[in-house]
Amino acid sequence: MHADSGSQKLDKIPAHVPPELVYEYDIARDPRMLEDPHARMRSLIHEAPPIFFSPCNGGQWMVTRKKTIVDMTLNPEVFSSRSSATGEHSGEQKDPTGGLTLLPISVDPPQHTMYRTPLNQPLSAKSVASLEPAIRAMTNELIDKVLATGRCEFLSDIAEPLPVTLFMKLAGMPTNRLAEFRHLAAQASSPTVDPATRAETFKHIAGILAETIKARQEKREDDLISQLLDANLNGRNPNFHEMLGYSILLFLGGLDTVVNALCFGVRHLARDQELQAKLRADPSLIPGAIEELLRLYGIVCMPRRVARDEVYHGVQFKKGDSVLLLLPAANYDDAAFPNPEQFILGRKEQHQTFNTGPHRCVGLNLARLEMKVFYQEWLKRVPPFRLDPEKKPQFIGGYTLAITNLPLVW
Ligand code: HEM
Repeated sequence: MHADSGSQKLDKIPAHVPPELVYEYDIARDPRMLEDPHARMRSLIHEAPPIFFSPCNGGQWMVTRKKTIVDMTLNPEVFSSRSSATGEHSGEQKDPTGGLTLLPISVDPPQHTMYRTPLNQPLSAKSVASLEPAIRAMTNELIDKVLATGRCEFLSDIAEPLPVTLFMKLAGMPTNRLAEFRHLAAQASSPTVDPATRAETFKHIAGILAETIKARQEKREDDLISQLLDANLNGRNPNFHEMLGYSILLFLGGLDTVVNALCFGVRHLARDQELQAKLRADPSLIPGAIEELLRLYGIVCMPRRVARDEVYHGVQFKKGDSVLLLLPAANYDDAAFPNPEQFILGRKEQHQTFNTGPHRCVGLNLARLEMKVFYQEWLKRVPPFRLDPEKKPQFIGGYTLAITNLPLVW
């Protein structure tokens, strides 16, 4: 999906882009990216200008330094989220949601504040804590299926099913449709599925979400969809279209992201027996380890659209320019993280994986909880594990840094 339709490389660099800021980097197809996406992100800090223009994928500014990214996210009047965040993986891919406004990610303040507020409380650390027993039960069920075999395909056996099941619980969707939804979610998040199938899959998912919304319109339950239906948007409740925009983003937001965060984290542990042993011996270290794994293995790059001509950090941007915030690269910025390539438990600096500013991930409490419970149970029950020496993991580039297989043995 990420690497199928040619890179749409510009023939001519736009006149406002100085030659010294041009650096050719195709986020979907760069061979070094496909070899090791995070090593490639790190190399951009050394090899490319801090803000550079890549002619690939229709031409795009790319930003790699933490401070610049923070400044841009705090300046939505210039770096807008409107019509830039559609759940796409790479610059040229068609919007799989069929043009729906994803809420609240595709709107800018002050409108964004209105749409974001109803999510803050239901997704707070305190609220999501009630899901902990369910996450623990689901994790153990998945571990039960593979434990005795001494091996697993971690991506499909564990990492994919977990967030889908959890989303269904959160959204109050009937778990008797779990198998069907799991299949759809796998299609939706699979990095190898073609764009047409992906779009078709989203239509199907939107149809199921629409059914749930309609059912909750009739009768409220104790779930997020019911809470959102009663949300106060400046004196009115969300309409059906807005409800769909919310639910599709909640589904999308918690899928690829958690799947890949789990995979990259587990891959790191599979290659570091000492760290595995340390976390097994003292599980209280797990939350700190998760933060450092999230830093080393950032998952998503976030797009913005330039809303007016502006010189920013010494660079001339023109209205309509596309900008990509390379959050995984910012986590390797030496100015922000001493010895950025090293795993250091207890770092104080905040990583950029959930971004900053008004759109900072609203699902981060849930993501952290999912990962914490997963690592607690996995490390408690599964003996020391390592990568299957016979099968090498493979990666996919794009807006999401993804892994396509992760065979483990123990
Ligand atoms: C490790 C897992 C995750 C990562 C790396 C991640 C990453 C991000 C990032 C970088 C943003 C900022 C977008 C921007 O600046 O334009 C974001 C926003 C968002 N995320 Fe997450 N996310 C994760 C998990 C989740 C989960 C589990 C959910 C579902 C509950 C979720 C729902 C959202 C939503 C709704 C937004 C939009 C917030 C807004 O626009 O105000 N995310 N996420």
